[in-house]
Amino acid sequence: MDLFIVRGGSPLRGRVSVSGSKNASLPIMAASIMVDGEVTLEGVPHLADVTTLSQVLQTLGMKVSRRPSPGTDSQSAVEILIDDETRCVASYELVRRMRASICVLGPLLAKRGRAVVSLPGGCNIGDRPIDLHLRGLAALGAELRLERGYVIGVAKRLRGADIDLAGPRGSTVTGTANLLMAATLAKGRTVLRHASCEPEVVDLARFLCAAGAKIDGAGTATLEITGVEGLEPVRHHIISDRIEAATLMMAAVITGGDVLLDNVITEHLGSVFEALQAAGANTERITEGSDPPRQEIRIGPGSPLRPFDVAANPYPGFPTDLQAQWTALMTRAVGRCRVRDDVFPDRFLHVPELARLGANVSRSGSCAVIHGGLPLRGANLMASDLRASAALVLAALAAEGESVIRRIYHLDRGYERLDAKLAALGADLERRTDDSEITVLPPLPAA
Ligand code: EPU
Repeated sequence: MDLFIVRGGSPLRGRVSVSGSKNASLPIMAASIMVDGEVTLEGVPHLADVTTLSQVLQTLGMKVSRRPSPGTDSQSAVEILIDDETRCVASYELVRRMRASICVLGPLLAKRGRAVVSLPGGCNIGDRPIDLHLRGLAALGAELRLERGYVIGVAKRLRGADIDLAGPRGSTVTGTANLLMAATLAKGRTVLRHASCEPEVVDLARFLCAAGAKIDGAGTATLEITGVEGLEPVRHHIISDRIEAATLMMAAVITGGDVLLDNVITEHLGSVFEALQAAGANTERITEGSDPPRQEIRIGPGSPLRPFDVAANPYPGFPTDLQAQWTALMTRAVGRCRVRDDVFPDRFLHVPELARLGANVSRSGSCAVIHGGLPLRGANLMASDLRASAALVLAALAAEGESVIRRIYHLDRGYERLDAKLAALGADLERRTDDSEITVLPPLPAA
C-alpha cells in the first residue's frame, strides 16, 4: 500500500493538464457491450477504477486493450470489442471493488437478454441503493430477482416505457446511464423523467448517438429515446474531468498559488467558479482560438479567503464530489461557514481527519461546520474514500510541516497521477510504500 508524505507551505505554480473524466469513461466503457464492432475511446484516464471495469468487461467476454493514439505522443486509446457474448456474470469479487460496475446491468439485459450482476453494497460515503435502476429496468420489461446478493435478470427484448427517475435525493447518475443505455436497444420509445443532467450523462448520450442511437434531450431532465436495432463501431473522445479540474483549482487557491489548467470545459464548472469567486479566489476563464476553441483556467493570487457556505446538489449545483475539498478549503477562510451535502448526507469521514490537522470542523447532520482560520499543522491522516483523500491532500498542502496520508489507494481510484501533477507544480509531496511505520511518522509535538 502506498502513502503520501506532504510538506505543506509551497504555493503551486505552473501549468497542468486535466485528464479525461472517470465518471464519463466508466458508463461509456460499459456501453461498449451493446456495440457490434470496435469501440475506440480516447482520453480514458489511467485509473484503478478503469482497470477494474476493464476486468469486469473481460469476464463478460469483451476484449479490452490500450494502444497509443495516432498523432499524439503521450495519449493512448482504449479499444473494446465483443469476443464472447455468452458470458453474463459480473461477480461480487469485482463489483465490490467499484460500484460503477453496476453500469453493465442495462447493457447486458438490452444486448444479451441475460445478466447476473452482484449488488454493489454500501460504501464509505453512505447508503447507495440501486432501487431506481431496478425499477426502471423492470418498467422496460426485464424480469429481475435478487438472489444471494446478485441481481439476476432476463429479458427477451426490452420495450420502451415512461420512467420517472426521481428518488429521495434527486435523480441518479448511474441509474440514468443504465436506463439510457438499455432504452437505446429497446423496442419503441422511452421517456426518462427526472433524468440526471450531469455532463457525464451527456457524454454517454453523445457516445451512443455517434454509434447510431436516437436520443433527444441530453443535458435536460427529460430524455427521449427511440430504440434502434443495433449500434455501430464508434470512436469517441471522453470529456475532461470537471472534478479533477476543480480539485486542482482549489489546490492552487489553498496554497496561494498561480496555476494555469488546460484541457478543461469551463461550462461544466459554473457552480465551482461561483463558489470560488464568492470566497475571494482569483479565477479567470480563458478561451483561445476558434476551431475548436481551446479553454483554459487561471487561478492567480487572490484576496484572503472568505467563508462561503455551499450545499452539494445534482448538476448544475455544486457537486457532492467536491464537498470534501471545499470543506478543506474553508478551513483557511477566517470565520464560520457550513458545507451541506444533499446528495450523500453521510459523506463526512474527512471531517475528523481535518480536525487532526488542527482545523476547527465538526459534523452536524448533513453539514460540516467550519470555524476557519486556525493554523493547520502536519499530522498522520487516513484517507477514507476517493474525494476525502483529495481533501486531505489539499489541507496537507496548506499545513505547516509534514503530514503522512495513508490509504491513498482511494485517491488512485479516481485521480490520474495527482501526486505527479502536484509535484510538477511545486508541491513537496512524495509517494512511498507504506512498509515502515517508523520512518514516515511526522515529528512528534513537544509535551
Ligand atoms: N439513490 C437512490 N436510489 C438509487 C440510486 C441512487 O436512492 O437507485 C440515491 C443515492 O443514495 C444518493 C443519490 O440518489 O443519495 C444520488 O446517487 P447517484 O445514483 O446519482 O450516485 P451514483 O450514480 O452511484 C455517481 C458518481 C459519484 C457521484 C454521484 C453523485 C459515478 C461512477 N459515480 O454515483 O461519484 O458522487 O453520482 O453525483 O458516476 C466519485 O467519483 O467519487 C463518486 C462517488
